[in-house]
Amino acid sequence: MNEIEFINITKEFSGFYANKNINLAVKKGTVHALVGENGAGKSTLMSILFGIYEPTSGIIKIKGNPTIIKNPSQASDIGIGMVHQHFKLVDVYTNLENIILGSEFTKAGNILDLNKSRIKIEIFQKTFNLNFDLNQKTGEATVATQQKVEIMKMLYRDADILIFDEPTAVLTPQEIDELLKVIEFLKQKGKTIIFISHKLWEVKKIADEVTVIRHGQVVKHYPSLKNISISTIANDMVGKHIVEAKNTDHSFSDEVVFKLENVTFEKLKNVNLEVRKGEIVAIAGVEGNGQEELEQIITGIRKPENGKIIINNRNGEKDITSLGVKKKNKEFISVIPAYRHKHGLVLDYTISENSIIRRLEDSHMVNKFTKIIKRKNQNKFSQEITDLFDVRGTNEGTSLARTLSGGNQQKAIIGREILTDHDFLLVVQPTRGLDIGAINYIHKQIIDEKAKQKAVILISYELDEVISLADTIAVINKGEILGKGPIDSFTREQIGLLMAGIKQD
Ligand SMILES: Nc1ncnc2c1ncn2[C@@H]1O[C@H](COP(=O)(O)OP(=O)(O)OP(=O)(O)O)[C@@H](O)[C@H]1O
Ligand SMILES: [Mg+2]
Repeated sequence: MNEIEFINITKEFSGFYANKNINLAVKKGTVHALVGENGAGKSTLMSILFGIYEPTSGIIKIKGNPTIIKNPSQASDIGIGMVHQHFKLVDVYTNLENIILGSEFTKAGNILDLNKSRIKIEIFQKTFNLNFDLNQKTGEATVATQQKVEIMKMLYRDADILIFDEPTAVLTPQEIDELLKVIEFLKQKGKTIIFISHKLWEVKKIADEVTVIRHGQVVKHYPSLKNISISTIANDMVGKHIVEAKNTDHSFSDEVVFKLENVTFEKLKNVNLEVRKGEIVAIAGVEGNGQEELEQIITGIRKPENGKIIINNRNGEKDITSLGVKKKNKEFISVIPAYRHKHGLVLDYTISENSIIRRLEDSHMVNKFTKIIKRKNQNKFSQEITDLFDVRGTNEGTSLARTLSGGNQQKAIIGREILTDHDFLLVVQPTRGLDIGAINYIHKQIIDEKAKQKAVILISYELDEVISLADTIAVINKGEILGKGPIDSFTREQIGLLMAGIKQD
């Protein structure tokens, strides 16, 4: 039986069709995967189902009944839940409070009945193997826990249609396995699941059916994945055959551009690291082993407790250990941050405005005396980013950053950082949430940075990405660099062992 039917759904945003005549049926108790390039229209379609957007035309049937879903709270009333691409939780609340927010139980006198909620949630925790501490402040929880909170929010509201919009993009491989098991569990209990992912092996692993969307339209539907290969689906997604980018020339200069000397900060213990002109140093490791701390001290968000940070840019060598973010901006350092919403973009600024947020002291962009922004230059730069990096949906730079699809937001940041003059580039998880075509494109850009003699540090949780791009690998475990050397001197297994903290002689 069809639990959900999209019939001729079209969504227009001022002349742009994010969804065009989409027909799609999702059967009860199945996992239906939705795949497609960045900006294909997947999240838009889900936002229509969840009542965030009203379709321009078309109807949705839920359990056979034409249903108008006016807003998320109505969606929730009819049993639809959604884990968004970017979580929507309140940091200062506890996990429990976040789960019940908006649908609290009350006792006589309108007093919150937290116990009743707690009991209900604990039952779900056991049934679905969703263990986490209900009293922890959500802002202090790991991303994986926050996601469990989001899932629990849906279950708590008795949702039986569950939408997962790129749930694995933010998880480590171990956490992904765990999540896929939870989804499998949910399916066994009769839930209907729509699963969006760019990682096709996951799709292959858990989906019963797959629908491929390209440029807002359904281009393919596979009622079963038996005998369907991952590369077939990939080709459907992008409409062409994909060749993976790989760094094959491992030569680089002797000249050190950036180094950390005996840096200690929170998890980090005596970290020594250096990167040379034309070298890509990749830090491999399981998430949570000090990578975030590395990013914080390199960018200047935090200062190390001990040790030194040295840059040797076109102006010579300089100790930048205690410079903050703004001052580091002037040292020819570019950064593609891990958290694009927190550190990469101002979501309520336009894409054009976002193109220069790191250049407010650059006289080419802002008049030194009047502080007036040179809009013409800004727009020109923004257009350059959009054209070169294929950022879609920018409406000539006038779209708010918030309205771009996740992958296109990332392309906008990467374009800005690469095109902003620099000698050293820090790249953290650059392809999180990107489609296969875009991943390849970004990988080519990073390899190109090397060709342009930039010094690059890449922090990535994806071993494949590290192996494709690195000249030199450094494996981090519990805040220590356990092994370091030319990428070709390690086997995949050796890297895996180091990532797990096992050092062999
Ligand atoms: N509120 C909006 N206003 C204008 N354009 C929008 C809005 N929301 C989405 N779009 C555009 O619609 C297109 C589809 O976006 P959507 O977020 O659905 O893509 P997606 O398939 O989820 O991509 P990704 O894989 O990158 O998340 C994009 O080009 C986006 O810029
Ligand atoms: Mg999306």
